[in-house]
Amino acid sequence: MNRIKPDSQLKAVTDFLAQLRKHIGLSFGAEKRYLVESRLSPLAQKAGFTNVHDLLIQLNTSVVGELHWQCFETMTTQETQFFRDGFFFETLRKEILPALIQKRQGEKKLKIWSAAVSTGQEAYSLAIFLEEQFPELKSWKIQILATDVSDKALQVAQRGEYEIQDLERGLSPAQITRFFTKGPVDFQIAPWLREAIQFQKINLISAWPAESSWDLILMRNVLIYFDQSTKNKVLEKVSQALAADEGTLVLGSSETLIDFPKLVRRSAARGFFYQRQSVEA
Ligand SMILES: C[S@@+](CC[C@H](N)C(=O)[O-])C[C@H]1O[C@@H](n2cnc3c(N)ncnc32)[C@H](O)[C@@H]1O
Repeated sequence: MNRIKPDSQLKAVTDFLAQLRKHIGLSFGAEKRYLVESRLSPLAQKAGFTNVHDLLIQLNTSVVGELHWQCFETMTTQETQFFRDGFFFETLRKEILPALIQKRQGEKKLKIWSAAVSTGQEAYSLAIFLEEQFPELKSWKIQILATDVSDKALQVAQRGEYEIQDLERGLSPAQITRFFTKGPVDFQIAPWLREAIQFQKINLISAWPAESSWDLILMRNVLIYFDQSTKNKVLEKVSQALAADEGTLVLGSSETLIDFPKLVRRSAARGFFYQRQSVEA
């Protein structure tokens, strides 16, 4: 039997993880190496490799192409849900949006970017939330951009089709009835809500949208997968892309920024809302 030597196995995994970090920023410590085997195993089988090791050897010795991207995508964590983290929406309702609405009364425009939207629940929750909680924004121009590096996740997001279990994780029966239609298999988001959102593939460690002055950037539960230097590069771009006046970055509820002085915590909100450091400070 063709037994793989442990050091050859370790090298293959280490080289693959270096590629993963280089191309999409994900950084796996030694304690997470086992995820390479468990996550790539179905893909290795499907692509006709005898085992994950052979797949890794192929990836590590060839030019980055479709198979690499499929593997990178498979290594991402896409966990999400409708109205994830009630405190976030509560703070948005009580503090962040009222302040933004006051500042933008003149132009009546808001620009929101959900920067790692996964399968779409975050962006749809936001659109539902604005519809329900801020009816006065109906006459405003609201831009919601929803992006992710994963094609597969974006396809789900764009279709807006979910199983009932997905909807029940976060939405009330009244919201399901109002904002979804029952299709032959799944539930589908109402077309007018889907049309309110632009979907686009964006890798946070590559080129960003040319536009800037975002009023809200949601970058929740993604920076945790990057190492500090990648995180700082992304945050540097965030600090330039946020609107100088009240623009707010939102992280996941267990995330905080340390040692990044260009972004400061919003005073009244708990840890994970940040804005640009003012020029005078
Ligand atoms: C855990 S989900 C977070 C989804 C949502 N923001 C939330 O908090 O519920 C992380 C998402 O980040 C995406 N992601 C990982 N690396 C990325 C990168 N370099 N650029 C853009 N998105 C990335 C993954 O594809 C995945 O959909």
